[in-house]
Amino acid sequence: MSPNLVELGYLISAVLFILGLKGLTRPRTAVQGNLLGALGMFVAVVVTVLARTDLGLMPIAIGIAIGGVIGAAFAIRVQMTGMPEMVALFNGFGGAASVLVAGATLAIGQTTSDNELIATAATGLIGAITFSGSLIAWGKLKEIRALDKIEIPAHHLVNALLVLACLGMSWVVVSDPEYRNLAYWVVVAGALLLGISLVVQIGGADMPVVIALLNSYSGIAAAATGFVLSNTVLIIAGSLVGASGLILTRLMCVAMNRSLANVLFGKMGGGKAAPDADEVYVNVKSTSPEEVAMLLEVASRVVIVPGYGMAVAQAQHVVSDLRKALVERQIQVEFAIHPVAGRMPGHMNVLLAEADVPYESLVEMDHINPTMDTVDVTIVLGANDVVNPLARTDPDSPIAGMPIIDADKSRMVVVIKRSLSPGFAGIPNPLFAMDNSMMLYGDGRKAVQDILKALNEG
Ligand code: TAP
Repeated sequence: MSPNLVELGYLISAVLFILGLKGLTRPRTAVQGNLLGALGMFVAVVVTVLARTDLGLMPIAIGIAIGGVIGAAFAIRVQMTGMPEMVALFNGFGGAASVLVAGATLAIGQTTSDNELIATAATGLIGAITFSGSLIAWGKLKEIRALDKIEIPAHHLVNALLVLACLGMSWVVVSDPEYRNLAYWVVVAGALLLGISLVVQIGGADMPVVIALLNSYSGIAAAATGFVLSNTVLIIAGSLVGASGLILTRLMCVAMNRSLANVLFGKMGGGKAAPDADEVYVNVKSTSPEEVAMLLEVASRVVIVPGYGMAVAQAQHVVSDLRKALVERQIQVEFAIHPVAGRMPGHMNVLLAEADVPYESLVEMDHINPTMDTVDVTIVLGANDVVNPLARTDPDSPIAGMPIIDADKSRMVVVIKRSLSPGFAGIPNPLFAMDNSMMLYGDGRKAVQDILKALNEG
């Protein structure tokens, strides 16, 4: 294949990536955007394979078949609620792939210029941080609580020493032909430790920021590998992932009220002892679907705060029916959307859009909070951390400073969840025991169905 044709193929895939990203900015065009991105990657892979016939088609075909089957198996089997874990793993695999490609290119002596060697060291460093950090993030998203208990003494010092060691070894990669291969794998080992040390200390509800940042790192590692291989499309694709990941990181920082400097230096909150659940929950009151239906019947304004539990219960369709039933009774209904409710950005918006809840009914946290004291009934549907008042009142809390939806300020609060167990941040929620609050225990979908039934029969 002529070099001009290869560059043309890469240009077409780059345009498809950009159109794909644009499509992903709206739920309505997201599926098409995803397909365009996948098509861009397909074109890039075909062009690269045709351009490098010297490599032999058989090993490439075997690699594509194995990778394709594993990827398809993951994608087909994953539940919607498991998507964030899968994304975390795939970020990590992207980082690991970059590390292996750059290491192999160095080992066969193809990396010679200073620029390529700098890119190789950068790939080893960033790719390995992405890999180990993503594995820890995957464990945290799986709510493996043992990970939250790991304490690294003087961890800022440990991180600083690891960074210095990696940079020192990177210099050896660039400047010392005799030891560069060994030094590369030392950089990788140091960066693996650094990835663990950086992410394991991050607790509370800060994982959205970390996932977005690791996503960006996986792109930067791929772009660096593109420089190692002088492969234009890898540089473009990696830069797009790196840049969009950084924008998402910034958005998540704003949503969590953290500065980017906090994130980059791994100083985010976590780990402080939470209040004792038995003390917090002394005055918890429970309620029934019939009682909730009676409250709703006499309300003028109802706000529903969806959270991760709505996704687990797949309660979006039935809550959409509840909205319709209330609107028919001239009751104003809004959904209060917290930017990190659920387990991925836009999680609640996607689920509610799927259930045909009108877009105008979804109100962002900043807009709804100033009016929460005029709400007659707030229904908290499977949400926990995003309505936890400890974020405002307890400076030692792992979620201290995180903006929340002020459900506690409304006249009545009905919390639908299965038990008093904590949310992702692992801390009790005083909202459940407030005077204006009642618990409706049960699976989110079943509970809303029962309220709807009681409303229709009442
Ligand atoms: P959480 O604080 O995780 O609380 C979810 C609640 O849902 C749990 O307390 C659980 O209580 C309940 N639940 C689970 N299954 C249920 C079911 N079938 N029916 C009814 N309730 C059910 O959720 P949130 O308020 O949405 O907050 C999100 C948290 O995840 C934040 O800490 C956020 O930082 C973190 N996070 C977010 C993201 C993004 S980008 N959105 C990414 C990673 C982490 P029971 O077990 O008692 O039912």
